[in-house]
Amino acid sequence: MDSHSADMVEFGPRTHVLVTGGAGFLGSALVDLLLARHCSVTVIDDLSNGLLSNLPASDSQLTVRTFRVGDPAFNASVRDEVGQADAVFHLASPIGVQRAHKERFAVTSGILESGCSIVEACRLHRRPLLYTSSSEVYGSGRDRPITESDPVMTDIRPRWGYAAAKAAVEHLVAGLLFDFGIPAWIVRPFNMAGPRQRSATGLVLPVFVNAALRGEPLVVHDDGEQRRAFLHVADAAEGLLLVMQCRSLQGRPVNLGGSEAVQIGKLARMVVEATETNAPIVMKPSNAVYGDRFAATYDRVPDTGLLTTLTGWRAVRSTKQTIMDCIEHMRTERVMA
Ligand SMILES: NC(=O)c1ccc[n+]([C@@H]2O[C@H](COP(=O)([O-])OP(=O)(O)OC[C@H]3O[C@@H](n4cnc5c(N)ncnc54)[C@H](O)[C@@H]3O)[C@@H](O)[C@H]2O)c1
Repeated sequence: MDSHSADMVEFGPRTHVLVTGGAGFLGSALVDLLLARHCSVTVIDDLSNGLLSNLPASDSQLTVRTFRVGDPAFNASVRDEVGQADAVFHLASPIGVQRAHKERFAVTSGILESGCSIVEACRLHRRPLLYTSSSEVYGSGRDRPITESDPVMTDIRPRWGYAAAKAAVEHLVAGLLFDFGIPAWIVRPFNMAGPRQRSATGLVLPVFVNAALRGEPLVVHDDGEQRRAFLHVADAAEGLLLVMQCRSLQGRPVNLGGSEAVQIGKLARMVVEATETNAPIVMKPSNAVYGDRFAATYDRVPDTGLLTTLTGWRAVRSTKQTIMDCIEHMRTERVMA
């Protein structure tokens, strides 16, 4: 692609794509997809949570750079890499409710610093940018599917530092489009799951699978009736590509998530059954785990009508398949270890 001011992005042999956070769970699935489309890809990842083993090291179309986006010492490198790219996906971010709660400063500043660095480089070089925000911006959840017009809701409790920073960067990204005419997209993923997701992040499905495979208790918070919808990471990566090819989605938040709502208690039972173990399921109040300042979220299920209507995207993998793929990946890792 030679016209960088073009507001459509095609992903093919002549497209060079920059993926920050590309050694992570979603980033590496996106890299797989881009390489399969014969794009050349550069990944920037500081390996704070990503793994080089998530990437096909021998692929000549792939370049991996390991530094922290947002570190002032590397702002020039970020600008160089953005300048060479036809399209930029900014996925690099600290993640997980657990970490957001325990290290509010590092999480909030990490999102803001990396966001500023990437947005500034895209502004300078006029490069199209897709940013992964988060459904955390919707706050504590709703008793019905959440749409993009639902308000962003946060307060000063530790958990929401992540959400508030994600929401702030959404504004920078929107500013690229509305103030400077640079194509920009904002995606709000809900719960994603599948291969390469790490239990160390505290995300519920890999934590359950890890516990079940060890025969240890699966800890369900509160009454276990809170609902989530899990999206397979491969469906999520497809969604990101479709979003960046859709002109009508520029500059507006778009939900990306699963459609099968599952109660967390039921998810625990599904994992025990799928792993064929006798691991016990225990219930614990969330404030016994996180303390009194924890903001529990009840139901958080997306309405993905906007994405489906404008791009034709649909999740094709079921929750059961997502659980099975997560189990398969963790079992294989154990054998390799
Ligand atoms: N997993 C989910 O369910 C979920 C839900 C909502 C939003 N998201 C968002 O999607 C994106 C991808 O999430 P993921 O689940 O793949 O997480 P992940 O931790 O697997 O991937 C993020 C990657 O970014 C890297 N990284 C972090 N900060 C960096 C920095 N400053 N510079 C360079 N590399 C850095 C990490 O090493 C990691 O490889 C993130 O922006 C996350 O906030 C994820």
